[in-house]
Amino acid sequence: MARRKKVYEGKAKILYEGPEPGTLVQYFKDDATAFNAEKRAVVEGKGVLNNRLSEFFMAGLNQIGVPTHFIRRINMREQLIRSVEIIPLEVVVRNLAAGSLSKRLGLEEGAALPRPIVEFYYKDDALGDPLVTEEHIIAFGWATQQDLDDMVALALRVNDFLSGTMMAVGIRLVDFKIEIGRVWEGDFQRLVVADEISPDSCRLWDLQTGEKLDKDVFRRDLGNLADAYTEVAKRLGVLPTNVTHAAKPTLIN
Ligand SMILES: Nc1ncnc2c1ncn2[C@@H]1O[C@H](COP(=O)(O)OP(=O)(O)OP(=O)(O)O)[C@@H](O)[C@H]1O
Ligand SMILES: [Mg+2]
Repeated sequence: MARRKKVYEGKAKILYEGPEPGTLVQYFKDDATAFNAEKRAVVEGKGVLNNRLSEFFMAGLNQIGVPTHFIRRINMREQLIRSVEIIPLEVVVRNLAAGSLSKRLGLEEGAALPRPIVEFYYKDDALGDPLVTEEHIIAFGWATQQDLDDMVALALRVNDFLSGTMMAVGIRLVDFKIEIGRVWEGDFQRLVVADEISPDSCRLWDLQTGEKLDKDVFRRDLGNLADAYTEVAKRLGVLPTNVTHAAKPTLIN
């Protein structure tokens, strides 16, 4: 069988040419990185879990009319996606203070925010993905004012969907990051959620205990990352909660 052409290899995923024009195959690796790849490890099974979880969230978003790049899952580690023109911004939505917001503004982790806050970071590893304002984004032409308005609206819809989905299984969505891409239909462009939605790109805290069920487990050496992601997947029904062995055949009278 002819090898597929690799289009891009990043820290967590590989993109291959898809079977039809305008599609890509996204392969989820087991590599975990943090602090701009200063900290690295291989976490067995992470790619499989993130492939399933990203499928779950993206398919759910598609179903409620929030457009995403997701087409279908192909196998344990791969999914078929629409090829998009990635806007070079990481869009972060925060519901509670944590991480860099806590540091920057001296807020206690877990402090309530008056409303969800949307932030933009310029995607540039060499610069450490710096926080940017709408002024920078428009002045440097990374997106237009219309794009920005659409991106904020999209990000808030994703926030409502993800918050509700996680709340239903006893998990608090503290914050998350998405990437957004342009899809061209003739002269018109549509913005869609791209990249991935997984515990690599969210902060998820158990509602009862506050236990962290996301990449902070790796960043802060709090335990086994795959166990945390497995817990999220089980609660969402993405993985079976208990493996039942096939019963012995029984005679029917
Ligand atoms: N639908 C899509 N079409 C085109 N590119 C995409 C799509 N979804 C995600 N990407 C891009 O594919 C890459 C995924 O790889 P990965 O997440 O491993 O990258 P990374 O190491 O985080 O690097 P970076 O995001 O800085 O490029 C990212 O560059 C992401 O922007
Ligand atoms: Mg990435």
